Amino acid sequence: MSLVPLPDVCDAVLLDADQIATRVAELGREIVHDHRGEELRLVTVLRGGLFFLADLARAIEAPLTIDFMAVSPYTPGRGGVVRVTKDLDDDIEGATVILVEDVVDTGLTINYVLSMLRARSPGRLEVCALLDKSARRIADVPVAYRGFRAPDRFLVGYGLDLAGRYRNLPFVATMSDEALGA
Ligand code: PRP
Repeated sequence: MSLVPLPDVCDAVLLDADQIATRVAELGREIVHDHRGEELRLVTVLRGGLFFLADLARAIEAPLTIDFMAVSPYTPGRGGVVRVTKDLDDDIEGATVILVEDVVDTGLTINYVLSMLRARSPGRLEVCALLDKSARRIADVPVAYRGFRAPDRFLVGYGLDLAGRYRNLPFVATMSDEALGA
C-alpha cells in the first residue's frame, strides 16, 4: 500500500505501485526471453514514458541502451502532423528497438513515431506499452508487450499527467468527474 495519498482530483487508484512493479518485472522477463543475444535499444517519447522506461530498463537483465525523443502531441485538425521537437541521439539502423510508451490511446502519436523510425531501417521495431486504452484506438498499433488494458478514463500517475502534474505519483489513478468538470 502506498504512503502517497490519493490527490483530491482523483477518485480511485486503478493500479497500485506493487501491481505495476510486478507487471513491469514480468514484461522485463518476457522481453529478455524473446530477444536472446540481441542488444536492445529502449526508446521512449518524452515525457510520459520516462518512468516506465526507467523501471522497465532495470527489469531487463540483458545489455541495452536507452534513447529519447519528444514530439508535439497529435492534434486532430492539424492534418495528422506530429512535430518532432527532440530526435533520437543514436542511429537505429539494424538495431532492435523497443518503443516504450506509458499509454497507447488513439494510437496516432505512436503510429506516426513508428513510421518515422521504420524509415530508418531498424532490425526489429516493437512497442511496449504500460497501458492500452484500446477503446479509444483510431490508428491500428501493433502492441507487442502490454502491461495492462486500461479503461476509457482520464488517468494520472506513473508518468501520466494533468497539465504536467501528477506524473510522479507511484500509482495510476482515475481522475474524478468532478475535477474534470464533467
Ligand atoms: C501521451 C503518451 C503517448 C500519447 C498517446 O503523451 O505518452 O505519447 O499521449 O496518445 P495517442 O495514442 O492518443 O497518440 P502526451 O501527448 O500526453 O505527452 P506526455 O508524454 O508529455 O505526457
